[in-house]
Amino acid sequence: MDFQLVLDQINTELRPLLGTGGKVASYIPALARVSPLQFGIALRTCAGETAQAGDSAVPFSIQSMSKVFSLTLAIKALDEALWSRIGREPSGSPFNSLVQLETERGVPRNPFINAGAIAVADRLVSQADALPQLLRLLSGLCGEAVHVDAEVARSEADTGYRNAALANFMKGFGTLDNDVATVLDVYFHQCAIAMTCEQVACAAGYLCRDGQHPLAGPTVISATQTRRINALMLTCGTYDAAGEFAFRIGLPCKSGVGGGIVAVVPDRLTLCVWSPALDATGNSWLGRQALELFVAKTGLSVF
Ligand code: DON
Repeated sequence: MDFQLVLDQINTELRPLLGTGGKVASYIPALARVSPLQFGIALRTCAGETAQAGDSAVPFSIQSMSKVFSLTLAIKALDEALWSRIGREPSGSPFNSLVQLETERGVPRNPFINAGAIAVADRLVSQADALPQLLRLLSGLCGEAVHVDAEVARSEADTGYRNAALANFMKGFGTLDNDVATVLDVYFHQCAIAMTCEQVACAAGYLCRDGQHPLAGPTVISATQTRRINALMLTCGTYDAAGEFAFRIGLPCKSGVGGGIVAVVPDRLTLCVWSPALDATGNSWLGRQALELFVAKTGLSVF
């Protein structure tokens, strides 16, 4: 299949729509300043073939896409033990919702809603070096140095009232072992990591390779652990739009409010799309259309 041709076609078809739908995330000031008139797409096959189009080399804030990689570290370290504090069910609620935590005794529904990702960050804080460990993982996976955007991290912390509420609430239930401020600091910084579509498509490569490193590196996680992360991405990776994503796209996906979405075609390739304007569920408005087009053009889907 000529993937470069497919991505060029998607870029040509969708670029005219830039500026006609969706809204850039406004609740974090540093994200509100990003121009919505950008669209990038990149993929990397299991065999290492790459293709890219549009603004695929422009760094953006990976936001909640970081939750896939922090979960990877936590699963690698704790395996089954991780699930005593974090559920595996879709929430059907917005990513920053507090409501389920009260009736479910401080156990977040899944590792991809904010509460779940904060609980994962707590597990990483209990080991040494949570943030450097995450940056090392990402840099190794894409073969280039990956950094935190300090301005976004500050902005995230300055406006993170709901995340602070979630963390304190979980601390009250004993879901977090560590100091709330320390855990939130890791969470805010992981959300503020900046990467390009090309870097993310490469970094996520182990998810289409049964946990094998996309470049020449050690095994990232086992094939079973990889399947589980893909299952969670399919069922919970796009929040209360997960059903719609499965229906229309049918691929494990993880989105972030920076406008990125990473998608996995198991045993074939990983794909990253980015366009900053979001739909009402917090997923990239054009990115979602790009994934739909990709599946329609290639027939690649898990279903
Ligand atoms: O927790 C927050 O508010 C953000 N920094 C991350 C949220 C996010 O990307 C949710 N995703 N769609």
